[in-house]
Amino acid sequence: MKYGVPIQKHIFIGGMAGKKPVVPVNYEQLEQKAKSALSAEAFAYIAGGAGQGNTMISNRKAFADYELKGNMMRASSEIDLGVKLFGKEYSTPLIAAPVGVLELANPQADLAVAKACKTLNIPMIFSNQASYSIEECAEVMDENPRWFQLYWSKSDELVESFIRRAEKSGCEAIVVTLDTTSLGWRPQDLDLGYLPFLHGLGLAQYSSDPIFNKIVDQNLADGIMKSGDKPPINFRTLKNVLGVCRKYPGSFWANLRTQRAMAAVRTFINIYMRPELRWEDLPRLRTMTDLAILVKGVHTAEDAQLAIKHEVDGIIVSNHGGRQIDGAVGALKCLDNINRELGQEIPLIFDSGIRSGADVIKALALGADAVLIGRPYVYGLAVAGEKGVEAVFRHFLAEIELQLSLMGIDSIHTLDRSVLED
Ligand SMILES: Cc1cc2nc3c(=O)[nH]c(=O)nc-3n(C[C@H](O)[C@H](O)[C@H](O)COP(=O)(O)O)c2cc1C
Repeated sequence: MKYGVPIQKHIFIGGMAGKKPVVPVNYEQLEQKAKSALSAEAFAYIAGGAGQGNTMISNRKAFADYELKGNMMRASSEIDLGVKLFGKEYSTPLIAAPVGVLELANPQADLAVAKACKTLNIPMIFSNQASYSIEECAEVMDENPRWFQLYWSKSDELVESFIRRAEKSGCEAIVVTLDTTSLGWRPQDLDLGYLPFLHGLGLAQYSSDPIFNKIVDQNLADGIMKSGDKPPINFRTLKNVLGVCRKYPGSFWANLRTQRAMAAVRTFINIYMRPELRWEDLPRLRTMTDLAILVKGVHTAEDAQLAIKHEVDGIIVSNHGGRQIDGAVGALKCLDNINRELGQEIPLIFDSGIRSGADVIKALALGADAVLIGRPYVYGLAVAGEKGVEAVFRHFLAEIELQLSLMGIDSIHTLDRSVLED
């Protein structure tokens, strides 16, 4: 066993010397420790969900509703965790979900995650709202697999530029997130009046993009700063504007004098969402790239069929960790429904609510070919940076190995519904 027994042993032997894991193994404790390391705004943005948080509750309830069966006298000490996706072998079923504005958790943000993923050979999906650019993250990953997550903005030229950069940086797939045509109603952020993008955070893919910068220049020339809603001017506003000017690439004084940094934030707000997108638009993306195209945010079998009809290569069943629609069906139930209708027609990947190795096993048993880990690694990042992300993934892998061994399964390839109670 590569992770299970060795990690368990390491922790218990450390315990003999009074040491406890810096990154808690238990999810609730991990979240609490991250909370104490984060500002109120950062924690609200990361932990928060849409509306009353009912989708987050349903996500967890769905995991509780499916129960695993264990078969005895079949334990194995060699567990094969490998999966195959788009003809390529991956050493584990885990993928780092695209998570925006990671600088809220740690200044090293995406770079720390990229390095941890490289250490463990886990693919990372670079977020469209990352704090470091595609190129900066790719540079620290060497050959490690990475994909790029796209928010299809109002400008197709910008979309194409992002795709070209992803291709040049060695990304192997484009993940189009479908569920964020507007921001969900998130009371935690609303009550703090805090949206990180307005503070210039999570804009690295844009500020490093030649097409985006061309649009900003045009908007400045057209007087974007003379129109639109403006906050009342007070000490706090000035502090925030200076913060954006400091954060945005280029000289602070030039950003302040020319209003370029604030114009970039406004430009981003104006163009980053495209609610009028339809399924029929997807083939246009196909003409832009030969990379695998996945859609993320599918809930229903009907939409999964539409995705296949419009020639996507993979589907990510996800409700964005309960951050978009409140009161939605638990994501694991959606996966079950979709897999029953579609079978294994194209790769199915799953996220939303995964908190443990046992959860990963349930998703794989219900037809997922791989899973995305979201908030847990972000909390690891908040608690201990790169090493924290690594620890969270290691804990997942250790639990998966031990669980499978205890269930009498030696390869995740063989996982199917038969391990679940009817
Ligand atoms: C703070 C935060 C930021 C996120 N940013 C993005 C993003 O930029 N793009 C995206 O497709 N999904 C984003 N997601 C959703 C994740 O990719 C993933 O679907 C979700 O975290 C899975 O749910 P879980 O956190 O409950 O495991 C974000 C999630 C969180 C918690």
